[in-house]
Amino acid sequence: MDNVNPASPSDQDCAEDKFEGIIGNGTGLKFVLTEVQRVAPTDSTVLVLGETGTGKELIAHAIHHISPRCGRPFIKLNCAAIPFDLLESELFGHEKGAFTGAIAQKMGRFEMADTGTLFLDEIGDIPLALQPKLLRVLQEQEFERLGGGRTHRINIRLVAATHRDLAEMVKRNEFRSDLYYRLNVFPVVLPPLRERRPDIPQLVSHFVGLFARRVGKHVDHIPKETLDAFTSYSWPGNVRELQNLIERAVILSNNGVLPNPLPKSDKNGNTNPLSVSDENPVTVTLSQGTFDGSTRALILRALQRAEWIIGGPSGAAARLGLKRTTLIAKMKKLGISRPVRQVEVAGLNQNLEPDRPWQPTAD
Ligand SMILES: Nc1ncnc2c1ncn2[C@@H]1O[C@H](COP(=O)(O)OP(=O)(O)OP(=O)(O)O)[C@@H](O)[C@H]1O
Ligand SMILES: [Mg+2]
Repeated sequence: MDNVNPASPSDQDCAEDKFEGIIGNGTGLKFVLTEVQRVAPTDSTVLVLGETGTGKELIAHAIHHISPRCGRPFIKLNCAAIPFDLLESELFGHEKGAFTGAIAQKMGRFEMADTGTLFLDEIGDIPLALQPKLLRVLQEQEFERLGGGRTHRINIRLVAATHRDLAEMVKRNEFRSDLYYRLNVFPVVLPPLRERRPDIPQLVSHFVGLFARRVGKHVDHIPKETLDAFTSYSWPGNVRELQNLIERAVILSNNGVLPNPLPKSDKNGNTNPLSVSDENPVTVTLSQGTFDGSTRALILRALQRAEWIIGGPSGAAARLGLKRTTLIAKMKKLGISRPVRQVEVAGLNQNLEPDRPWQPTAD
């Protein structure tokens, strides 16, 4: 059963590269890995949060791998993948005859994970009815198998993950607040890929190398337009989507050239409004002169964030990684001008700057 990993694949090399296989060098991922390094040596519960495909499971493995429990069992259970009726028995085990069909005694995941790490994936999907029992075992590190009277004491470290907003679920009474607080001891939040674009080129070359080896192909050229398209796409499925797209592109590659597998509208960026964090401007896209509708949106957003100041260290040009004069020229070319300021007086909108076209200020 793929949920059970009695021994982590990395058990043999606990002392080797801590974050092997976790690709990316941007500030977003670096911050996450620093947090992981801080919490891993403790026994504290870690709650890994993030959209689908952002690498939550990878991080859960890393926590175990660099913790003193490395070499001990790493047991995973995906709470969303087990039918409600079976979940309790999967977690806590059962005695023979505990319920119809319980023809033999069975160990639960808590027992299997004893002395090691239990990874409860999709914890937001755990039914309300089971939550008090989960809270008890987390607080007291003891439980009984279904149909059994004997109390089992265990020593586990819990790592839980979900793509759901647990705080919202608590508000809607879909998740118990006491369990939420017990889980939320040390949250680690993985940003979506669209907020860590500087990681994309490195991820692309990692996956190209991986799949080229796997399918026995030689891919040695990634055209700049293809890389630009990857860098500006919004990646709703995050790293998993990128990984799958590169696999397809490698299979389709000819003469060592990686094709662009993104749908046409995405190649133009039109269907995927760019979202750029302040920390990670898409310098590569702009400074290399790829211009389209999405670039206009990107420039507008940077201008709004910089309150229409173009130059200076926190101006829009610096945010975009462009020279001030280059940005002004591009704004003129794209017809971007500052919106007219409006003030509402006694219910009437008064235009303060009628007809005067905006001119870049000396800032
Ligand atoms: N930084 C990264 N470097 C290399 N591979 C990554 C990275 N992040 C994610 N991946 C890969 O992307 C895929 C999805 O990652 P993972 O299963 O950890 O995501 P997840 O957040 O648990 O997704 P879901 O919520 O859908 O379960 C995996 O194949 C994983 O190896
Ligand atoms: Mg997962």
